[in-house]
Amino acid sequence: MSGAGTLRLDDREAVLAHAFRLVLEAWRTFDRARPGQPELEDRHRRLLAAPLPEAPADPRTVLDQAADVLDVSMSQARPRFFAYVGSSGLEIGVLGDALVASHDVNVATSAGGADLVEAQTVAWVADFVGFGRPADGLLAPGGTIANLTALAAARERAVPGVRHTGATGRPMALYCSREAHYSIRRAAEVLGIGGRQVRALDVGPDRRMDVGACAAAIEADRRAGVVPVAVVATAGTTLTGAVDDLAGLADVCARLGVWLHVDGAYGLPAAATALAGARFAGLDRADSATVDAHKWLYVPKACSVLLVRDPAALEATFSHQEDYIPHVGMEELHPVDRTLEYSRPLRALKLWLAFRVHGAAAIRTAIERNLEQALVLAALVDAAPGFTRLHDPQLSAVCFRLDPPAGADPAAHNAALARAVERDGRILLAPAELDGVPCLRACIVNHRTTDEDVRAIVEVVADVARRTAS
Ligand SMILES: Cc1ncc(COP(=O)(O)O)c(C=O)c1O
Repeated sequence: MSGAGTLRLDDREAVLAHAFRLVLEAWRTFDRARPGQPELEDRHRRLLAAPLPEAPADPRTVLDQAADVLDVSMSQARPRFFAYVGSSGLEIGVLGDALVASHDVNVATSAGGADLVEAQTVAWVADFVGFGRPADGLLAPGGTIANLTALAAARERAVPGVRHTGATGRPMALYCSREAHYSIRRAAEVLGIGGRQVRALDVGPDRRMDVGACAAAIEADRRAGVVPVAVVATAGTTLTGAVDDLAGLADVCARLGVWLHVDGAYGLPAAATALAGARFAGLDRADSATVDAHKWLYVPKACSVLLVRDPAALEATFSHQEDYIPHVGMEELHPVDRTLEYSRPLRALKLWLAFRVHGAAAIRTAIERNLEQALVLAALVDAAPGFTRLHDPQLSAVCFRLDPPAGADPAAHNAALARAVERDGRILLAPAELDGVPCLRACIVNHRTTDEDVRAIVEVVADVARRTAS
């Protein structure tokens, strides 16, 4: 209930204590896997079909109802969530979000200390992944927007003034592997480059972009009057975790004068580890890179970091002079002069807290453990009768298929199996397709996942396959 004439909570200390009890209960349920995914019941459906409430209600009751709905919703924070590229709602990050939302600072204009938190966090992430110096950047809501932001800057660099004039008949192109995330095509669509102007290049047996094909495509486009905007190397493809040859692509970009963007939304945190760090050699020569902290740096969504070598490229792309937000000389640009967004929460705080509270070493160790767990999973898949592993894990994603019963179609069998595993609910895997053929895919990016949880992947899939067959 709210106080008379205000929207302040009446008994706010009690409400806060109640809310934090609910958070603690949620965290406790994330500590260990639960036996299955609970279903939406009639009480949830009734609650969620209710009309706009005019009258107040007790905040504790309403918070309880919200927690109840969330409990039956798919939480990526659970240790057996292996679908897509999950996140794990790091506890200190949750508290950071509560603090940030309470202060509701806007990092559109200079906001005092908050901008410095963002700048320091960007520098820490650059150091953590080995982006090298100079390094600058900003926080974005997700990898999709971080990639779009970087590619907008690359487009302005390739065709100066294009933000004002539009493409005016000058064809442009982007280069990436055919296994790049669809956000690259989406950026090409939004930026007027055109989705069909994305040169989705072949991958080799290691599922990395063919570097020679990339150079040849750029040169062919130049001969045909097409302006190359950027090469997008993927550092951890969504499907298999393949890391493109960053050093090879950096050579091509340096030789041909093209912007190199590294989409490391999923994989780039692994660059900080001894186990996988060497795969990312060449990152320090990129013009920009995306790292989703809400993926493999464990903090809650939405928290992506865009690293850039030259902040002037962002300013040339996004700066505006408006009467309601004037500049005092060009040296006094606002944060909004570097981003797509206007109102912007301090997304950096949860990551800043995570580095301060746990230390970079513990975060690195957690990532190493996920990498090792992928190797454990690969070995279990190799040892399981009727299972076939489809690639060597470069990071923490593993795709595999099961042999169908005699005479059955392998593609239909694996697609049906993926759906049956989803319905079963003990583990959450993403159905996927590799080379156009359905498979099962597990991605391990959760600090809560134990080796026992990893063993459950093969056990549950084998069990579901047995039951489906009988
Ligand atoms: C390689 C890669 N890039 C970009 C994205 C998009 O990130 P977001 O979902 O944060 O927009 C993803 C998401 O899984 C990804 O794996």
